[in-house]
Order: sequence, then C-alpha cells, then structure tokens
Amino acid sequence: MTNRRTLLVVHHTPTPLLREMHEATLQGAHDDAIDGVDVRAVSALEVTIDDFLHADGYLLGTPANFGYMSGALKHAFDSTYDDIRGKIDARPFSFWIHGRSDTTGARRAVESITTGLAWKLAAEPVEVIGKPLTDGDQALLVELGGTLAALLMG
Ligand SMILES: Cc1cc2nc3c(=O)[nH]c(=O)nc-3n(C[C@H](O)[C@H](O)[C@H](O)COP(=O)(O)O)c2cc1C
Repeated sequence: MTNRRTLLVVHHTPTPLLREMHEATLQGAHDDAIDGVDVRAVSALEVTIDDFLHADGYLLGTPANFGYMSGALKHAFDSTYDDIRGKIDARPFSFWIHGRSDTTGARRAVESITTGLAWKLAAEPVEVIGKPLTDGDQALLVELGGTLAALLMG
C-alpha cells in the first residue's frame, strides 16, 4: 500500500520557448522539499483516460492557437472527457498559457472544460505573452509547479 500521490502534467510544447516554460514547472514540482509526490509529464497528444483517472492533481500547459487552447490539448480532452467526467471531481489543477499577443480565448477554453470536469483551480494560472521569458515569468512557472505538487503532499 502506498500513499504516494501523482501530479499529472499534460502539455503541448512544440517550440523551445514552450519547452522552457514546461521545464520550469517541472523544476518547481520536483523541489527537494516536496515528498511523496510523483510527477508524471505526458504529451497532450498521448495522454490516456487512465493517466487522468490515476492522478490526484493536474497541471496543463498550452500555447494559444487561433484564440483557443492548442488542438493537441483539446484532443487530450476530446478523447477522454466522457470517460473521466464525474470520476475525478474536485481535484486540484492549474495551467499555464503562452501566446504571441492574446491568451484570453485559450484561458476561457481551459476554464470551460475544467469547469465541466468540476476540477478546483488550486494555484494562480500563469499567462505569458511574447518572448523571451523573463526571470519573473520563470519564477512564476517554478512556483506554479511547486504549489500544485506541494498541495498533493500528505
Ligand atoms: C497556428 C497558430 C495559431 C496561433 N494563434 C495564436 C493566438 O490566437 N493568440 C496568440 O497570442 N498567439 C497565437 N499563436 C502564437 C503561439 O501561441 C506561439 O507560437 C506559441 O505560444 C509558442 O511561442 P513561440 O512561437 O514564441 O515559441 C499561434 C501560433 C500558431 C502556430
């Protein structure tokens, strides 16, 4: 019997900058002070129903694409939603979004789907416009990963 918890990180990170953002969240989630939490990072194109069902909390990462979340993250929910809805209510989650000019529609899209899943926003989402990433952006992303993982401890 194990009391370990799992933070599922579902991300679509096809550019170097997006990978930098993703890595910053993982750095936070892997902080030495966090104990008993496994961090499972899965591409949005590959995540499965079981991945969602067996996790205790969620961190989503996506670019803004055509005023929405990425098609890849939408695919993650298109292909699992009916099978996970109602089974993982009230689990903590948060997200980050990067855009060239406007992340509003992408944020709305993530909020809409996660409201349907009855997840609980447990850390302030991080939205970044343009590049390069500032030290402040990096710090917020590290904090985002660390906060979610820490919430799952114990
Ligand atoms: C097909 C496509 C659609 C995009 N749509 C948006 C958009 O609606 N809003 C926005 O702010 N950025 C948009 N972008 C920019 C991406 O969000 C941006 O490329 C991504 O976050 C990665 O940043 P990078 O290209 O600087 O590495 C789009 C990019 C692509 C390729």
